[in-house]
Amino acid sequence: MKKKLLGVLLSVAMAAVLLVGCGDNSTGTTTPATEEGGSEEAGGSTSGGGHLIGVSMPTKDLQRWNQDGENMKTQLEAAGYSVDLQFASNDIPTQVSQIENMISSGCELLVIASIDGDSLGTVLQQAKEQNIPVIAYDRLIMNSDAVTYYATFDNYLVGQKQGEFIVEQLDLDNAAGPFNLEIVTGDPGDNNANFFYGGAMDVLQPYIDAGKLVVPSGQIEKAAVSTANWATDAAQSRFEAIISSYYSDGTNLDVVLASNDSTALGVANALDAGYTGSWPILTGQDCDVANVKNIIAGKQSMSIFKDTRTLAKEVVNMVDAIMNGKEITGLDTETYDNGTGVIPSLLCEPVFADVNNYKELLIDSGYYQESDLQ
Ligand code: BGC
Repeated sequence: MKKKLLGVLLSVAMAAVLLVGCGDNSTGTTTPATEEGGSEEAGGSTSGGGHLIGVSMPTKDLQRWNQDGENMKTQLEAAGYSVDLQFASNDIPTQVSQIENMISSGCELLVIASIDGDSLGTVLQQAKEQNIPVIAYDRLIMNSDAVTYYATFDNYLVGQKQGEFIVEQLDLDNAAGPFNLEIVTGDPGDNNANFFYGGAMDVLQPYIDAGKLVVPSGQIEKAAVSTANWATDAAQSRFEAIISSYYSDGTNLDVVLASNDSTALGVANALDAGYTGSWPILTGQDCDVANVKNIIAGKQSMSIFKDTRTLAKEVVNMVDAIMNGKEITGLDTETYDNGTGVIPSLLCEPVFADVNNYKELLIDSGYYQESDLQ
């Protein structure tokens, strides 16, 4: 830590300021304002000096965490850092022990996408005692004062965009309805799930109250619509039960609010297997390959593109700023309270995606190859 403290003092003396944030820049690209003596933009620089960074990801089972983990590793290494990247198989004790190992093996900073936001308090106390900064990656780590920064996409906005899409598609301001809606959200331990659900329900609830949207299963409360581990098969089984109990008599399902793509895939599978009415509007998030294929096939109506390359790039810039003792500006300092106070947050912008713009968003930008989607 001595080196780090020295770095902090030196750079305070240089009063270098690094601007970090996705802001309203549509590509989300950070333009760090470096002054003489400051490090260059993370990609391609050697400012990392070989320092070891721990990157803890929740699972390899869902597409996005593989991408996030690989993007972080590649970009940190390009910036000159050494990386200990671990995936925790969606098992909380595994994630705790991987983080313990990162601390004991000399990681100087931790980037963590938690499985359960409430389960890392004890292990992160060790990080705090050793002055190891912690960046909560994508998911906020709750009730721990060891969390230094949070970097994510604007999660409330994701839910809001899903809700607004449904309002528009059903023309809820003009149509009388009622339309049948079902709801599928994510893991109760993932704080993001609350924001996705909250953002969407703040838009949809007035239409439910007005009787334009009805939920035949009666499953509306967050606890009733959650999906453990965001697992596709869990969403599928719950949805198969909903179809057989409430829609097997020919009742038409108009719309499904699914918070993300892994759960939307479960819904689409269940619809394929046991639903005979007209295909409902179905939302999602992440632009996973299987779901973009479903969008092209007309089985999913929209997704939200969260460019994991951008988030990784912003977090690498953040790591670089912390390790080089630079001030980080451009953060949201109001929205994300983890129970110990507001955590300064870097918010990247989520982008609406559907059959009309997926090529531009995903293929032209090199996120996927056209062949990935065939
Ligand atoms: C992420 C979503 C993802 C979900 C399941 C959430 O925390 O923000 O992008 O779909 O986890 O992996």
